[in-house]
Amino acid sequence: MANANIEELPGVGPATADKLREAGYTNLMTIAVESPKTLADACDIGEATAIKIIDAAKKAADVGGFESGDIIFERRKNLDRLTTSSKAFDELLGHGLESQAIHEFYGEFGSGKTQICFQLAVNATLPKEKGGLDGDVVIIDTENTFRPERIVQMANAHGVDPEEVLKRIHVARAYNSSHQMLLVEKASDVSKIHPVRLMIVDSLTAHFRAEFVGRGTLAERQGLLNKHMHELLAFAEVNNAVIAVTNQVSAKPDAFFGDPTRPVGGHVVGHASTYRVYLRKSKGTRRIARLIDSPDRPEAEVVINVTEEGVRD
Ligand code: GTP
Ligand code: MG
Repeated sequence: MANANIEELPGVGPATADKLREAGYTNLMTIAVESPKTLADACDIGEATAIKIIDAAKKAADVGGFESGDIIFERRKNLDRLTTSSKAFDELLGHGLESQAIHEFYGEFGSGKTQICFQLAVNATLPKEKGGLDGDVVIIDTENTFRPERIVQMANAHGVDPEEVLKRIHVARAYNSSHQMLLVEKASDVSKIHPVRLMIVDSLTAHFRAEFVGRGTLAERQGLLNKHMHELLAFAEVNNAVIAVTNQVSAKPDAFFGDPTRPVGGHVVGHASTYRVYLRKSKGTRRIARLIDSPDRPEAEVVINVTEEGVRD
């Protein structure tokens, strides 16, 4: 329901729907959780109208209610796990990556973020008994780093037909941050035709960081990033899908997050990510993966290898 069309809300005509979408409100959930004043300002509508729209979105998206623990427990029984192809890495995360959750991989250039994404994309197409999700994959590629050749190598290493794997990976280039956000909505269209069980955003923050420069733009950037994260989480829940996003560390101290090992996007990205993994380069093919904060796993680190065949112990 959270994916229903915003035009279906009472009082929202095509013009208002366009304004909403332009401001980043691409689904009901993002509207339902917004404050009337912010929505009114962002879309250039009256506050009374904003209140009406938000109320309607709350009803339509069915948010704000309580659920009993047994129902949540039941839903969590459907959680699936996706292997990284490294036993140690899987154990660090507690049996691989979890569906209905966002996993953030952050670290400096060359730390292996994109390679891990490729491995996950291949693995998601594998049958469940091999640690896969028997699903399709959506990749939102912001830096033009998708390389089918690497997918072929990794598929061959797992003894599966590269052609078949490539057919199940749906890639879109995102040209700027608003296009990136729009592509999450487009991914919902793909998921109506194909069983999308993994969504990758590589990189989550690069466009936002490049477009919103300077202190005055920080609030807006964080607001949009927050919306983006929640749309990703909604996709994960609706499709019982795994979300994997990558993030850079700030190379030079920026206004708010001065520490050069801190991920971009600060608290907004941190709070919305269920699992955060910090990647560091080590000798040769070795990389160190550290689980930073997780709801149910201890902070720990493991060594992985990024080889010709892909991610390995
Ligand atoms: P940025 O996107 O620049 O922030 O970096 P990243 O963290 O995404 O790095 P990426 O995953 O692209 O890692 C690049 C590294 O992966 C290279 O420096 C290589 O060490 C390794 N790599 C990439 N392709 C291959 C390959 O075909 N064989 C092997 N053995 N290693 C590879
Ligand atoms: Mg990369």
